[in-house]
Amino acid sequence: IGRLQTQTIGRNIIYFESIDSTNDYCKQKGNDLSHGTVVISEEQLLGRGRLGRAWASPKGEGIWMSIFLKPHIPPLEGTKLTQIAAAAVCSTIRNVVGIDTLIKWPNDIVFNGKKLCGILTEMSAELNEIHYLIVGVGINVNTLYFSEEISDVATSIAVEIGKTVDRKTLVTNILKVFEELYEDFIIKGSIKKTIAICKEFSAILNKKVNIIRGNSIKEGLVIDITEEGNLLMLMENGEKEVIQSGEVSVRGL
Ligand code: BTN
Repeated sequence: IGRLQTQTIGRNIIYFESIDSTNDYCKQKGNDLSHGTVVISEEQLLGRGRLGRAWASPKGEGIWMSIFLKPHIPPLEGTKLTQIAAAAVCSTIRNVVGIDTLIKWPNDIVFNGKKLCGILTEMSAELNEIHYLIVGVGINVNTLYFSEEISDVATSIAVEIGKTVDRKTLVTNILKVFEELYEDFIIKGSIKKTIAICKEFSAILNKKVNIIRGNSIKEGLVIDITEEGNLLMLMENGEKEVIQSGEVSVRGL
């Protein structure tokens, strides 16, 4: 990767032609890795998504990378890193590719209703301390063919704009924005900037969605994304409720 414009994020890059999963690699190495290390692979043989799902990561077609961090923040704030990553991906795609993708809070980035990017943030932590945190980002960039099972729900940048895109340019820009938003968070203790971007690119703000918690499904209107990165919802019974990421799935767009 040339032209990197960051201070810490991606200063150390570990590159693979092939690996099981960049997130799993980070987990295996744990604290042997330094803060800001970026692990990136041309393909993943066992790419993982949320909820134990598989994440297709064909060779050379996408960005399959993990950002390894050691933030001094309470473990409960770890989910904010997902939103920092989502904001970095959406604003980069707008600036580099010229299309506006949308964030399906908190983990998915979609275009025309189909998923284009997923984020899997995992951490090793005790009650009060994060040992390390891994932000796994998978972006379908140049994939032109999706299998029948997923072609209704998945897309790529190339499919949407009709031409391929340089992955290095995307990676360098994503890491640059990620670092800016991350530093802003660590220095100020707030993710205001990130939330402003997440709201601008939100797929669910001012929409009715289903909030799925275990076996219960409730419908509500998303009226805000708070400065903490939670959803402020107006529920069917007329009451307002704050929904934290991690505890729920959002459906029905
Ligand atoms: C999801 O949408 O469920 C999250 C997908 C996350 C995929 C990325 S690709 C790089 C990193 N390594 C993995 O095994 N998964 C994440």
